[in-house]
Amino acid sequence: MRVLTGIQPSGDLHIGNYFGSIKQMVEAQSQNQTFMFIANYHAMTSVSDGSRLSELTMQCATDFLALGIDPQKSVFWVQSDVKEVLELYWTLSSFTPMGLLERAHSYKDKTAKGIAANHSLFSYPVLMAADILLFNSDVVPVGKDQIQHVEIARDIAIKFNNQYGDILTVPEFRVQEEVATVPGIDGQKMSKSYKNVVNIFGEEKSQLKTIKKIVTENVAMEEPKEYETCNVYNMAKLFLEGENLKALQDRYKQGGEGHGHFKIYLAEVMWEYFKEFRERREYFEAHQDEVRDILNMGALKAKEAALPTIEKIRSATGIRY
Ligand code: TYM
Repeated sequence: MRVLTGIQPSGDLHIGNYFGSIKQMVEAQSQNQTFMFIANYHAMTSVSDGSRLSELTMQCATDFLALGIDPQKSVFWVQSDVKEVLELYWTLSSFTPMGLLERAHSYKDKTAKGIAANHSLFSYPVLMAADILLFNSDVVPVGKDQIQHVEIARDIAIKFNNQYGDILTVPEFRVQEEVATVPGIDGQKMSKSYKNVVNIFGEEKSQLKTIKKIVTENVAMEEPKEYETCNVYNMAKLFLEGENLKALQDRYKQGGEGHGHFKIYLAEVMWEYFKEFRERREYFEAHQDEVRDILNMGALKAKEAALPTIEKIRSATGIRY
């Protein structure tokens, strides 16, 4: 089975990205053909400083390797290194009704907030469909916010196949229910654009500072507390299991501790969880040439995987003349 996903290098990676997408990919690596890429064309919709985008792209690559994307097991590349994706993007545009894009949440939400839309924001799902369909992906692991985009890719693939025969694989999304929407420090979905994120690789002090800002109920220290509805607990449970999780629930139920204690505990647990990844990150940070070599090799593999499909499409559509 071929499993593919991408992430935009539009800011520091946060724990929503990790649990919603990266962790699933790392776990899928041993049993599937895994394809993981850095969606730098997509990031152009929000990052317009060129040197910042190239810096973020390398940073994202370094982070992925640190978090366990293994270039021996996964095809791992930067979107813009396989230009065929832009060719497919155009081809698919002819199979994308305007109404389908007008209904896309990401476009509707941004325009509703008064953000002036340009064409790249509007056509964003078509490029994402091209990412998925170019590689005949069977499954696309994502967080809940991306489900609609994968459904759009399905619709486009079906329309294309109706016209030209069974060329494109119709993909399915995969969402892990417990982490479909990781909450941010204000309890809303964690998102760079809401500025409510907890980064994976922040400094210890600033991580704690961010965690201290998590919105909690105002309950006296000695009172028992509800854990299910607590933003601190809902973040902490991502990092805990079994006895440790049960022990935290008991601390909430017993009372006698304030949210400040739980926040400090969360910061400690999280720091410990990412310890090994931080160490690996230091290595790749100091070996950026190695990271570049890995990306170059990944781009070659990705191109090779894409060529049979793009060739079929060129023939079917008459672009090959
Ligand atoms: P992006 O970069 O916004 O997010 C990357 C992945 O992280 C997931 N995610 C979350 N999951 C759970 N809780 C959260 N709070 C949370 N925040 C983010 C996202 O659902 C996503 O899986 N359009 C995509 C990138 C992309 C792509 C693709 C993905 C481009 N082409 C092809 C899959 C296949 C995006 O903006 O993700």
